[in-house]
Amino acid sequence: MAIQTLSPPATAATLDFHGKATPLPIVIGTEGETAIDIQKLRASTGLITFDPGFGNTGACRSAITFIDGERGILRYRGFDIAELAAKSTFLEVVWLLLYGELPAKPQLAQLTDQVVRHTLLHENFRRFFDALPKDAHPMPVCAAAVAALATFYQEPTHNEQATKDAIVRLIAKMPTIAAYSYKHSIGQPFVYPQNRLSYPANFLHMMFSTPCDDYEVDPVLVRALDLLLILHADHEQNCSTSTVRVVGSSQANLFASVSAGISALWGPLHGGANQQVIEMLEHIEADGGDAQKFVDRAKDKKDNSRLMGFGHRVYKNYDPRASILRQACIDVLVRLNVHSRQLDIAMKLEDIALKDDYFISHKLYPNVDFYSGIIYKALGIPVNMFTVMFAIGRMPGWIAQWLESRRDPDNRIVRPRQIYTGARQRPYVPMEKR
Ligand code: CMC
Repeated sequence: MAIQTLSPPATAATLDFHGKATPLPIVIGTEGETAIDIQKLRASTGLITFDPGFGNTGACRSAITFIDGERGILRYRGFDIAELAAKSTFLEVVWLLLYGELPAKPQLAQLTDQVVRHTLLHENFRRFFDALPKDAHPMPVCAAAVAALATFYQEPTHNEQATKDAIVRLIAKMPTIAAYSYKHSIGQPFVYPQNRLSYPANFLHMMFSTPCDDYEVDPVLVRALDLLLILHADHEQNCSTSTVRVVGSSQANLFASVSAGISALWGPLHGGANQQVIEMLEHIEADGGDAQKFVDRAKDKKDNSRLMGFGHRVYKNYDPRASILRQACIDVLVRLNVHSRQLDIAMKLEDIALKDDYFISHKLYPNVDFYSGIIYKALGIPVNMFTVMFAIGRMPGWIAQWLESRRDPDNRIVRPRQIYTGARQRPYVPMEKR
């Protein structure tokens, strides 16, 4: 079989199989990304495509986030991530992702007001946390809590107003759920949200205040947290976002779809990598700080180690979020007058890897998770909460992608095919003859 693509301006590619030529339409995105539309492939040829991990499959049309992995570009709704990181706030980015434009002042005020008024959890929710073991990892706690929101808010999310309410509730309540999951794990009383505080400041307050002691919210830390949330807000069709879309394609409600996304994010190859990075840095530090030794292990195919926080399915260049976070790490630690041995090791690892033939030839660069954990540590966030922080940031992206897929006329229940490799039909063997 050979696929022959016509020279531009092509409107179709031709698939030549068993002497029969089948034209397949071409779909082109606004940034020139070009795809072969195979929606009619099976009906017209009997063939399906084979693409484990979907590395060559465009699953949808999307107007939310653009990534050019070769050039290290990331844009939300056309705005460059570095510009948003420098000039916007997380709630502005939430509006941008959900509605496609930067909010005007009254729109931002309206969103802020709605979010502030929905941060409280139903009092019965306390009993939900009580039912879970104290040492539970906060990621499954958050996934379960978000799914449980569907039991408190049962309106169907195909109703426009109920969808709007569910969106505000998710953005508003996720930091409260996250902070409660932490408080539960350390046996401290839950701290109610404070309406006077900004979104990131409120989260830090719920994490670190106690009934006996008010937490002084440091503006440097608040800005650092807001930056982290902005950088994590969306990343097109990654594993957790695809999960949200897949679950949503069955018309499951928003809470159920997002809960599934949180579970997908937990894995060490996805959002769970930020926890793995800091554990790797701690391990190298405890082992005497030899970065070269660890890079050598990561290259050794007989060794299972990978350089966590390095490599990406899409970026074959420096992840733009990693360069922003690298600088932010340095700035935050200088402002706090803290010296981090782990930042030294991370920079050493990066330096060695970027000059190493293996990493160069495999196009492995630092990703968003490489430096984020060092800032989370400076904020006082415990290591097992790092992936939860990612989930708080990714919430608007998941919601925007879920909404977009709901409104997409091409949207069908996701149901891939397979290449079956099991036994062919055979007769049942009675028990006495096995
Ligand atoms: N250290 C050493 N070798 C690596 C690494 C790494 N971190 N990442 C990939 N490779 C090698 C891999 O061994 C393979 O080598 P070869 O072709 O010689 O067998 C090659 O690079 C391709 O790797 P892959 O696993 O087929 O690539 P993928 O696109 O399926 O996986 C990835 C991408 C991110 C899962 C992978 O790079 C990885 O495991 N990185 C470490 C975990 C990590 O940092 N994850 C966070 C991703 S960014 C945040 C997010 O969006 O979740």
